[in-house]
Amino acid sequence: MDQSLLNKIRENTDIVEFIGKYIPLTKKGKNYFGLCPFHNDNNPSLSVSREKQIYKCFVCGEAGNVFNFLMKYENISFKEAVRIIANEIGISIQDEFKTSENKNKVFYDIYDIASKFYQNNLLSTEGVKAREYLTNRHLDMNIIKEFQIGLALNKRDNLTKMLVKKGYDLHILNDLGLTTNNYDTYINRIIFPLFDTKGLVNGFSGRIYNGEKTNKYLNSKETVIFKKGENLFNYSRAKEEVRRDKFVIIMEGFMAVIRAYTIGVKNCIATMGTALTTNQISLIKKLTTNVYLCLDGDTAGQTATLNNGKMLVDANLNVKVIPLSDNLDPDDFILKYGKDRFYSLINSAINYNDFRIQVLKKGVNFKSSTELSNYINLVLKEISTVKDEIKREIMLKNLANETNVWYNTLEKKLNELLASQETKLKEQEIQVIPKKNKKNKYEKAMQVLIYYMLLSRDVINLVVNSHVYFPIDVYRILAREIEYFYEKYGYINIADFKTYIENNEALHEAFNEIIGLDLDSIPDDAIILDYLMVIKNYNKALEIKRLENLIMNEVDPLEQAKISNQIMKLKMESENNGK
Ligand code: CTP
Ligand code: MN
Repeated sequence: MDQSLLNKIRENTDIVEFIGKYIPLTKKGKNYFGLCPFHNDNNPSLSVSREKQIYKCFVCGEAGNVFNFLMKYENISFKEAVRIIANEIGISIQDEFKTSENKNKVFYDIYDIASKFYQNNLLSTEGVKAREYLTNRHLDMNIIKEFQIGLALNKRDNLTKMLVKKGYDLHILNDLGLTTNNYDTYINRIIFPLFDTKGLVNGFSGRIYNGEKTNKYLNSKETVIFKKGENLFNYSRAKEEVRRDKFVIIMEGFMAVIRAYTIGVKNCIATMGTALTTNQISLIKKLTTNVYLCLDGDTAGQTATLNNGKMLVDANLNVKVIPLSDNLDPDDFILKYGKDRFYSLINSAINYNDFRIQVLKKGVNFKSSTELSNYINLVLKEISTVKDEIKREIMLKNLANETNVWYNTLEKKLNELLASQETKLKEQEIQVIPKKNKKNKYEKAMQVLIYYMLLSRDVINLVVNSHVYFPIDVYRILAREIEYFYEKYGYINIADFKTYIENNEALHEAFNEIIGLDLDSIPDDAIILDYLMVIKNYNKALEIKRLENLIMNEVDPLEQAKISNQIMKLKMESENNGK
């Protein structure tokens, strides 16, 4: 790999803008902060430095430059990350670089061919009934094209034949779920393609359309490229829209998402009828921290709203609820009441906590003192989970009004709850405080010196000219490589040096730890020399220890005297240096 080219690509990609496309960043002082995508982050612990062009997380310790971020975020190789970033800024790279294509490419190819085949079926004469069905459901040609809706004909080997003729192995087709026991999996169903996060077709959901008495939907089984719990319907299409609107709407079914799309609400995704997984929540977190739940208006939908909402709140997302009445799902609602009413429903979405309180209130008999006090206690518990003080006060006032209980009584009770929670929280915090690696004085000195070497050529020169031996391998290698990089390229910085050592995995951990020191202005030479002295003295101490061991095993008194002399000399030197 040509290091100069890598430097150039990196230099042309601003890290703040780049990471900002993946996670929301806010400026605090010199640096930018966001929720770290590499661990389950509660407070923004990912810090991004424009000046140094690196990021680092205080909590999980992840650190690096733009390439490292993309590698880790998309789970791709270094080469792939470089290629993607180079592509974005219009730098073309040599062929040798393009090698390792996605190993699942052939599977995606097959799905792509199948999807086009199904789309074609829908437009053929045999697709007339299916087209009629879609028209009756108010899905026009534009939407059919946009969502690449297709049709599996009423034949048992329609797709199989075509794919086998193209040379694809039946084993693979069975593994991919396109065929089952060597015959088409989907027969006589309307085909809704499912897409992965990058927008490639990785599965299908087939719907009956002529009133057959069988499963309404038939979904792809779990395959190498399709994992239900890692997919969100419409995620790839909604990405940009969500980042623009700054919120995402989660629905249960994909028909609802498609319907919302027809009226211009394009920031919707669907779970496809299951509970949210932690994996899906991380995908959402990559786009926004604001989530609206718009699940079906039946009891099942309400339960799902409570459960999914809790998971999202626990993941530190802001959650609102768009409640639907009369057992309607968003699709039904929009068809029945139209676009404007759905828009105003979005605008009047209620906070998740308020929604929970509404649910608690259902069926409570306010005339029964037991039921009422029970209700009040539950609501207080709910309010105590709200972080915003003002919001808490409003909620408390509402509770006082609706129950006719004195505000001060409620407040006193709430404060008790809050106090007990705080002690619990503190106990937890003590456990999660990140372990600071305690370093010896001399080890710390090597780390600091390496950090400053990356910031200043003067420090490089001081270290090189001192001829101090770094007694720990990784640090010694790092110092040598920094010297080498500087000689070769005539400059040095953390971000490019990080790329330079990319292939040397043994150095990564130590280097990331050094980046984590986050030092700023370069100190005077005298201080640098002090650090060097710490290491020198340590080396002497090591040598003294070695010699003392030697003496113990030495039988010749003359040799013993010689060694003891050496020890004396070393000890004196150290004492002088210490002054
Ligand atoms: N689902 C499924 N299998 C079923 C029923 C539902 O996989 N037999 C999933 C589908 O992904 C569907 C979602 O659960 O999108 C929600 O189910 P439902 O509300 O029953 O479907 P709708 O989206 O309303 O679809 P339609 O309007 O076509 O009935
Ligand atoms: Mn429906």
